[in-house]
Amino acid sequence: MSTLITNLGSLVTNTGTPLTDAAVVIDGDRIAWVGAAAAAPEADDRFDAGGRAMIPGFVDSHAHLVFAGDRTAEFNARMSGQSYTAGGIRTTVAATRAATDAELEANLTRFVGEALRQGTTTIECKSGYGLTTADEARALRIAAQHTPETTYLGAHVVAPEFKDDPAGYVELVTGGMLDACAPYARWVDVFCEQGAFDGDQARAILTAGAKRGLIPRVHANQLHHGPGVQLAVELGAASADHCTHLTDADVDALANGDTVATLLPGAEFSTRAKYPDARRLLDAGVTVALSTDCNPGSSFTSSMAFCIAVAVREMGMTPDEAVYAATAGGARALRRTDVGLVGEGARADLLLLDAPSAVHLAYRPGVPLTAAVWHGGVRKV
Ligand code: NIG
Ligand code: FE
Repeated sequence: MSTLITNLGSLVTNTGTPLTDAAVVIDGDRIAWVGAAAAAPEADDRFDAGGRAMIPGFVDSHAHLVFAGDRTAEFNARMSGQSYTAGGIRTTVAATRAATDAELEANLTRFVGEALRQGTTTIECKSGYGLTTADEARALRIAAQHTPETTYLGAHVVAPEFKDDPAGYVELVTGGMLDACAPYARWVDVFCEQGAFDGDQARAILTAGAKRGLIPRVHANQLHHGPGVQLAVELGAASADHCTHLTDADVDALANGDTVATLLPGAEFSTRAKYPDARRLLDAGVTVALSTDCNPGSSFTSSMAFCIAVAVREMGMTPDEAVYAATAGGARALRRTDVGLVGEGARADLLLLDAPSAVHLAYRPGVPLTAAVWHGGVRKV
C-alpha cells in the first residue's frame, strides 16, 4: 500500500537536497520516493497536505519514562527558591519500587502516546528508578516492549541500601545487575555528577557495560563542571548529555571526537538553571542533539517543540538548527541512519505541522502544531 503526499508548503529532509514544491511517497513502513511534485510517481492513495510543512518525526534520544508518582512538591519548592539536587531521584525510586508492573506499563504507554501525538516517532528510554537488580531489569523489560532504544541506568544514583557503601553499589551495577539488564538494553549510561557517580566510578560502569555489548552514553556536566564529557569522548560514547558546564577543553574534545552533545533545555527550564550554550558548540563544529529528558524530577515535558522553542530563544540556535538537532541530531545520538531524515529507504516517520514552515515550531511557542503523524508508514494522528 503506497501513499503520495502532495501540496507540501515546505519539506525538511535533512539530506542536504533543497526541494521546493516537494512530494513524498510512503510504501509500507518506508519512504519510497522524495522529489518535485511534478515528477511524482503513481501511488495507491493520495494525501493533500494543504500547504503545510512536513519534517521527519522527532527523535527524542533522552527520556526516563519508567516510573511511578510525580514530584510536584519538589517542583513547587524549587520555584520558591530551593535548588535542584541529584538526591530527589530517590523519591521516584521509592514510588517506582512500590508500583506494580501493570502500573509502570500503563504510565509508560501514556508517555509514549503523549510524545507520539506531538510528533515524536523515536524515543529512548532509560531505567534508573529501580536501583535493585530486579527493579532495573523489570524497567528495561517493560521499556523494551515500546522502543528498541533502551538504556541501562542502574548508575543513576547510589541505591539507598548502599548509602554507606558506594563501592559495593558500583560492584553490583557492574556485576549481577548488569547481567540481569544487558539482555533488555542497547545502551549503558551513568549520571556522572556530584552526589551521583565520580569519573572513576563512571569509567568502571561504562567499561563494564561496553564489555557486555552495551554502547556508552553519559549524563555529563549537568549541574557542575566534571569529568563526564571528556570521559564520554574518550570512551567513544554515542552522546554526552546535558553539557551545561563546559570548559574550552570539553568543547575541543567534543569537536575532535565522535560524541554528540545532547542538550536538554527542559531540565534547565524546570530547575531554573543556566542553559547550555548551543551556539558555542555549533560554532566549534560539534554535532548537537535536542531532547526532552522527560522525567518527573528535572524535566517533566515530552514536548520536543517546547525544547526547540527554548533552544532558539535561550541557547543561540537558529530555528533550522534546532529542528535539525531535534530530528537528525537525535538520530546521530542514537547511531540511527534510518530515522531523523526524509529520504528514500528511511523509515516513514513523518510529522505534518499545522504551519507553512518548521520555523513556526519556535515562532509559535506553546501552540500545538501537530496536524498528522505517520509512524512506520502508519498514520497515527
Ligand atoms: O537527566 N540527571 C539525572 N537524571 C535526570 C533527573 C532525574 C530526576 O531528577 O529524577 C536528568 O535530569
Ligand atoms: Fe536524564
